[in-house]
Amino acid sequence: MTTAPERPHTPVMLKETLDVLKPRDGAVYVDGTFGAGGYATAILETADCRVFGIDRDPRALTIGRELARRFPGRLRVLGGCYGDMVRLLGEAGIERVDGVALDLGVSSMQIDDPERGFSFKNDGPLDMRMGQGATRTAAQVLNTMAADDLADILFDFGEERASRRIAAAIVSDRARTPFTTTGQLAGLLRRIVRKSKDGIDPATRTFQALRIFVNDELGELERGLSAAEHLLAPRGRLAVVSFHSLEDRRVKKFLQSRSGASANPSRHLPQAITANDPGLREPSFRLIKRGAIKPTAAEISSNPRARSARLRAAERNGSPPWPGDADGIGARS
Ligand SMILES: C[S@@+](CC[C@H](N)C(=O)[O-])C[C@H]1O[C@@H](n2cnc3c(N)ncnc32)[C@H](O)[C@@H]1O
Repeated sequence: MTTAPERPHTPVMLKETLDVLKPRDGAVYVDGTFGAGGYATAILETADCRVFGIDRDPRALTIGRELARRFPGRLRVLGGCYGDMVRLLGEAGIERVDGVALDLGVSSMQIDDPERGFSFKNDGPLDMRMGQGATRTAAQVLNTMAADDLADILFDFGEERASRRIAAAIVSDRARTPFTTTGQLAGLLRRIVRKSKDGIDPATRTFQALRIFVNDELGELERGLSAAEHLLAPRGRLAVVSFHSLEDRRVKKFLQSRSGASANPSRHLPQAITANDPGLREPSFRLIKRGAIKPTAAEISSNPRARSARLRAAERNGSPPWPGDADGIGARS
């Protein structure tokens, strides 16, 4: 096993995200996926504002505390999940913010570190936990879960068509040798899954699925969007950068329904009626742009990880937040 390379994370779609947030003096922003602090730094450099950076990974928090010295009294990092941002900000004495940015998924620092177990390119322990909120490692999931449940995870979170075959092979292999390393799993996948014509590594979808499951990434996203809706002041802006269709679909659906872009007759009815009927609620957001914003060709050529990024953005209005999927303030179900 090799040691972690200390390569900084290159923020994706940074200019476009700043164009959405339009940082201004005196305002308060949340960077819900702090990472190496690329977004937070740019926001703080653009205006004399304050940023609360949230990350579940203790290593990101160490970077954040270091960075906070450059911006005395203006940057504070909070350990935890962005789905809990209402509580985290509340504990810091903040009830309203002017912008929330979410840059979903893993950072380069996480994926490039073999010891974290996110990558099939280098051998390392099969862990995949980003940090807080994840209890089981990917190895524990593979070694204990029933074949049907494993197959569902691979299909639902990796859109892996060979999910049943892979799950059966995992269950058969683990009876001889329990899974402990990324190399073991990558080896099985290369044996079982045919290489696709587009050259995508046969391990890609399964690794993505396990990572999403281990960290409950889609549950976090649902809670985080709802929490941002609660926290944003009128005219406050939300910018979400996603990296695959499972994420983007959820962001799109959330913003379309909250902005009244999906069929909803609420705009024509008095609030007293709409508030009691989930089908007839007042929009709580205005879409800044109807579709997703894509990275430029220049960004993709300088940072290939930007390739699949999609930015969606909306502005909060003064209407009350909709009840969330949990209790509306990002609580875990
Ligand atoms: C793509 S990176 C963000 C990079 C950051 N924008 C930058 O410029 O450095 C995603 C970060 O979000 C964190 N993260 C992912 N899901 C999270 C969640 N639900 N709550 C808090 N942090 C999360 C990861 O640990 C990782 O550090």
